[in-house]
Amino acid sequence: MRFTSKLPDVGTTIFTVMSRRALEEGALNIGQGFPDYPIDPRLAACLVDVVGAGHNQYAPMEGVVELREQISAKLHTCYGHRFDPHTEITVTCGGTEALYDAIQAVVGPGDEAIIFDPAYDAYEPAVRLAGGRCIRIPLAPPAFRFDWDRVRQSLSDRTRLIIINSPQNPSCTVADRGDLDALAVLIRDRPITVLADEVYEHVLFDGRRHASVLAHPELRQCSYAVFSFGKTLHATGWRTGYCVAPPLLTRELRKVHQFNTFSIVSPLQYAIARYLAQYPDAWVGLAAFFQAKRDLLAGRLRGSGFEPIPAAGSYFQLVDYGALSGDADMDFADRLIREAKVATIPLSPFYAAPPRMTLLRLCIAKNDSTLEAAAARLCEFAAASRKNR
Ligand SMILES: Cc1ncc(COP(=O)(O)O)c(C=O)c1O
Repeated sequence: MRFTSKLPDVGTTIFTVMSRRALEEGALNIGQGFPDYPIDPRLAACLVDVVGAGHNQYAPMEGVVELREQISAKLHTCYGHRFDPHTEITVTCGGTEALYDAIQAVVGPGDEAIIFDPAYDAYEPAVRLAGGRCIRIPLAPPAFRFDWDRVRQSLSDRTRLIIINSPQNPSCTVADRGDLDALAVLIRDRPITVLADEVYEHVLFDGRRHASVLAHPELRQCSYAVFSFGKTLHATGWRTGYCVAPPLLTRELRKVHQFNTFSIVSPLQYAIARYLAQYPDAWVGLAAFFQAKRDLLAGRLRGSGFEPIPAAGSYFQLVDYGALSGDADMDFADRLIREAKVATIPLSPFYAAPPRMTLLRLCIAKNDSTLEAAAARLCEFAAASRKNR
């Protein structure tokens, strides 16, 4: 059969590859971003209850209204603005579907979308499937700050979308209010929509507050903001997220959503709605919870040769292995799986043209015992490599 791939250069994501390798080699997996601890049993009980109560048929296309009302209340608490559950909130299959739908709604053939490298891997394929192309602007290590002058220079009359992710995966940088102000000035009076990937909205460290586009009066009028209950409720397998946008943008997003997934697993939505009604502040405390895990992992690794890079937020901690090896990160990460029995995520797949760097991404959303065991294995590996040098 003659077949032309639309994404010939796209392989299996690095997360799947490394998780598969971890299983093959019996390695501890602190690569892929999913918790290895249980969800709140009260959330699990809500799911059992709603299934028993008969919530097992198609949910409304835009999401169960009880859940959209809970989301609206949560957004008001977090970002001080009331979003209409009927016209501005759509429940999606994880943050991933929201990202895809928003990109399809905005980007057309020949259009350009600006993304920041290292970039989460879901953005570029979706832009290309829409017929557009990504203009990739680097965040410079070690602090991975946004360079708005460079963004301005990269704008063209084909620019339709700017995708900003904060807290950022994988760099662990966060955008502050100044970044959002700079972005707002850049796109003022231009036909550019913002896609704000805010799935780590509650995971900011050292007293930082999340700067959401939804709390920015100018940006919230021209943005899609994407969130994930997978991250917020430690339930990545529930694949439940949502997208918040003004009515016009929401209408366009729903045109894609209704022919993509149509609607999201009904009992999961009822269960989350019921849970949030009973525990409306379930997400409070996430920053402290993850900061303790970041500190535990970084503290164990500091001085080992896997040097932690300051992390301002997200599920992750970057480490620099440059003191141990100059190997390319893909090779080094595979060696760690084989020899240290620890799976991590190399950074180069997050770039279009990876610079020479020796960084690995570790996931902190793990039991303390997993983090301690992984750190011990990495320290042992580092000590042995130093001895053999
Ligand atoms: C930056 C970023 N955006 C979006 C997603 C996807 O979220 P979900 O699992 O809800 O689809 C992830 C998941 O890891 C992520 O790291």
